[in-house]
Amino acid sequence: MTKFYELSTSERLAQLRSEDAIDDDDLRVLVDEPALPTAVAANMVENQIGNFPVPLGLADHFLIDGEALRVPMAVEEPSVIAAASNAAHRIARTGGLHTSVHRDGTTAQIVFTGVSLNSEVLPTFVHEHEAEIRKVAHDAHPSLETHGGGLRKVSVSVSDEGFEEIDLLIDPGEAMGANVVNTIAEAVAKYCAERLDGLDLLMAILSNNAENQRVQSQARIDFDNLPTRDMDGEQVARRIVAAAHFAEISPLRAATHNKGIMNGINAVVLATGNDTRNINAAAYADLSEQRRTWTKWTIDEERRQLVGRIDIPLPLGSVGGAMSTLPMAKFSLKLLHHPDAKRLMGIIASVGLASNLSAMRALVTRGIQKGHMNLQFKSLAMSAGAKPDELEQVVAGLRADPAEASLGTAVSLLNQIRNTSK
Ligand code: MEV
Repeated sequence: MTKFYELSTSERLAQLRSEDAIDDDDLRVLVDEPALPTAVAANMVENQIGNFPVPLGLADHFLIDGEALRVPMAVEEPSVIAAASNAAHRIARTGGLHTSVHRDGTTAQIVFTGVSLNSEVLPTFVHEHEAEIRKVAHDAHPSLETHGGGLRKVSVSVSDEGFEEIDLLIDPGEAMGANVVNTIAEAVAKYCAERLDGLDLLMAILSNNAENQRVQSQARIDFDNLPTRDMDGEQVARRIVAAAHFAEISPLRAATHNKGIMNGINAVVLATGNDTRNINAAAYADLSEQRRTWTKWTIDEERRQLVGRIDIPLPLGSVGGAMSTLPMAKFSLKLLHHPDAKRLMGIIASVGLASNLSAMRALVTRGIQKGHMNLQFKSLAMSAGAKPDELEQVVAGLRADPAEASLGTAVSLLNQIRNTSK
């Protein structure tokens, strides 16, 4: 059977339709209708003048907690989906990815300055008024509790630097929750500021530090699923562990290692209509000199397996915001079988881990340029206007002289091919 990646776009759509993975309405969104109608786009941002489409593709072969998935990814970099699919395939042959998720809420900070700092004023006030604070929080967003969310914890933190804060831990239910959390924080801030003489309210805002929304995903890969033409699987596994260890000690390398992880994560976050900036802020806030990356790779000597693990904060939602407005985001969530927020966190962390594996396997064996260049040539050939039956010839021409590969060369190659076939 022809592999999914070998099909043309229309053949892929036909296959998905025949598998009942998509219906006729989905096909209309993907092919016929503008993916983002102007009426929707114009109300999403200020001064809207158009849309900015990027390709949506499916990463194949994911097996996550026993469920087989094709994962939608929105990304402009040619190799990202191929890389995620390749690693997912190797991981699936050893049982797939296994996730665990903690999603306890988002923290909001209500920050004060003023003459009563470093006194007992704020801690005492919060202690004595916690019930009222909880009521103000409830009244600011009464429907949150019916959706399983609500204010979970109120605490006070006092610094020596001229600031004191009330921290609210708010469970946003299935939403990512920025609006809910900020609405509650501002209401509680107003209630407190009106009653706290000697303290000035500086601001009330959610924190993008998401230590209460962490996900772990683990993968095992038999050595036998890792070899290349020139290297056996065990050698590849040990070199991957060395590469991962080097990222832990080298800030220069860690930045690139992490970019490879974010290649996968950002593409699924974008495809599902979540907030890429929020995810990146949270993920990078988790790193430090002691912890330069989110992944760890080791060897299980007994089972002769490479073992990878990612542990990362991913403050994601499964409803609300762009997820509920963007037709493509709704479509992506449908393809993922309508995951709740925890499941989506597990899926996205798993794609990050797979992307990391693929990048390292390429780096420690043949290097990344060979694979990248093939995809780059394909992209140049398509930009030059090559039809599916002309693609391979244009790519072969570009590959023959990589130093001269450009859009101009692709156009001349295409013209030559068309002239000789006349
Ligand atoms: C390229 O987009 C990402 C890589 O550089 C990641 C890495 O080096 O691990 C291949």
